[in-house]
Amino acid sequence: MYRTHTCGELRLSDAGKEVTLAGWVQRIRKFGKMTFVDLRDRYGITQLVFQEKLNAQLDAQPLNREYVIQASGKVVERSNKNPQLPTGDIELLVQYYEILNPARTPPFTIEEETDGGEDLRMKYRFLDLRRQPLQRNLLLRYQASRAVREYLDQQGFVEIETPFLIKSTPEGARDFVVPSRMNPHQFYALPQSPQTFKQLLMVSGFDRYYQIVRCFRDEDLRADRQPEFTQIDCEMSFVTQEDVLQVFEGMMRHVFNKVAHVALPDPFPRLSWDEAIWKYGNDKPDLRFDMLLHNLKVRNRVYCEVLHQTGFHVLDQAETVLAIVVPGAADYTRKQLDELTEWVKRPQIGMQGLLYIRYLPDGTLKSSADKYLSQDVLSKIQQFCEAQPGDLLLMLAGREDKTRKAAAELRLEMGNRLGLRKKDVFRPLWVVDFPLFEYSEEEALPGSVGRWVARHHPFTAPRPEHIPLMIENSPLIPPGSDYQDHPFARIKANAYDMVINGQEVGGGSIRIFQRDLQEKMFVALGLSPEEARQKFGFLLGAFEYGAPPHGGIAFGFDRLCAILGGSDSIRDFIAFPKNNAGRDMMLDAPAPLEEAQLKELHICLRK
Ligand code: AMO
Repeated sequence: MYRTHTCGELRLSDAGKEVTLAGWVQRIRKFGKMTFVDLRDRYGITQLVFQEKLNAQLDAQPLNREYVIQASGKVVERSNKNPQLPTGDIELLVQYYEILNPARTPPFTIEEETDGGEDLRMKYRFLDLRRQPLQRNLLLRYQASRAVREYLDQQGFVEIETPFLIKSTPEGARDFVVPSRMNPHQFYALPQSPQTFKQLLMVSGFDRYYQIVRCFRDEDLRADRQPEFTQIDCEMSFVTQEDVLQVFEGMMRHVFNKVAHVALPDPFPRLSWDEAIWKYGNDKPDLRFDMLLHNLKVRNRVYCEVLHQTGFHVLDQAETVLAIVVPGAADYTRKQLDELTEWVKRPQIGMQGLLYIRYLPDGTLKSSADKYLSQDVLSKIQQFCEAQPGDLLLMLAGREDKTRKAAAELRLEMGNRLGLRKKDVFRPLWVVDFPLFEYSEEEALPGSVGRWVARHHPFTAPRPEHIPLMIENSPLIPPGSDYQDHPFARIKANAYDMVINGQEVGGGSIRIFQRDLQEKMFVALGLSPEEARQKFGFLLGAFEYGAPPHGGIAFGFDRLCAILGGSDSIRDFIAFPKNNAGRDMMLDAPAPLEEAQLKELHICLRK
């Protein structure tokens, strides 16, 4: 037996016991003839004391950081206790120790806070994972997966695995592909999600399916995206949208209760997609704070009367003018405001500039456009936005889509600056009534400016009352017309997203389950009947053999864990993640193949 206890276990009540611990040397301190060592394992840290009589052995077999050792001795009460450590009341008076394995000096310190840069830590991920913050994250992840399984099991869901080697199908992102040795010149694709399989399982009669499953998407990476990530993928038969929302907000309440010990609201608030865009500028609003958008003018329709004619060309010529009121920020200095202006001009935000009105506590209004805007105009804008003395009003002007996006980002930025986005506050909601289609400028259909793509995926059902709009109209957008006036822009889907703290944690929909409607959907997306049969023949065929009405949802499990753990980066919750360039720094993958392997796969590389 290597140990009798773990390094996180011993308390004052154990004083006097003879024990053996094993673990990693975190720190060594010498005080005169005594040596103190912090011994670490995943349960905690215990202080070891080596007295003078062990000095000869310590000289012959010195310890160093990250050595794996075993130490036996007596638990004693500490004279200077460490209240920061759960084991801080005691120490182990070492009588005997053995080095189980020496270690090279690690490239960074393995402590709560480390001195290692991101790249170095990714390269030595196995060492970074020894650090307690990452250990806590992975334990949280494990608890979350247990809570999910516990809930879904209680609800009668069955976990079923689906294949990873599948056929390439368009689902939004690019596929990762795998060559087939036995089928020369043919490729499998890795699934972006088990979407079609879970629908087929409904046809098979497994009316409550789930799977905690890896998904693969070859897309550009961000803090909340990885090329391989994990979903909690779910599907149910004979359900309405309402049934699905009930079951899965119940799941979230259970998980948050179990893992973070917080009670989420019952029921979750809901916002229609239109309302979310109008009030927050995007479809994943952070409800931890208000600071809603004020729509002064939208697509040339004026809501704040004074904007008909302000005398300031920036406002008068803009298609859309939006504002947010930042509470208590009227004392922002010129320097801070200039810096904010630069912030909205960054390419990621892409605005021409930022207009502000400071509503001083004495009731005066000071604006960046004082030269052009009269006090009367400023005061009407302030009234429309219901700004209070002491508030700062920030205005953006431009085309609607860009301005909304920028206003949404600015709102979040101001929320950050004011400390309103607290990590331990969780505000979930459902966003419902998504548009079925999204306009895309790329790959225009012949005779059309652009094309319609599925906002969610091609299997999402339109709202029944909007089906005629889809089947009675051509998907083509004639040159010279505005896509926003096309009937497809008005079609809403039975689709929903779950959003927590401004992050999309899950999305799903009620599905099309009739072959003819699914075929019409493919036509609307510009797929020829031939292409539709080739890509989705298996699903269309299955719909002819008694497909039940069904719907479901998938949650981003990594994102969910990051939110639970109060982090912005999902990487901290994945044992072996990829970096921003999609590389595994530890394995140094992806990597070239040997010529012999390529030959076997019938692959010839293009220069
Ligand atoms: P969707 O594409 O919305 O839906 O994905 C569901 C959830 O998965 C998470 N997610 C990601 N997490 C990390 N890295 C990524 N690259 C990544 N991409 C997505 C998000 C998202 O909400 N089959 C449908 C679901 C359904 O209709 O049932 C689907 O995959 O949190």
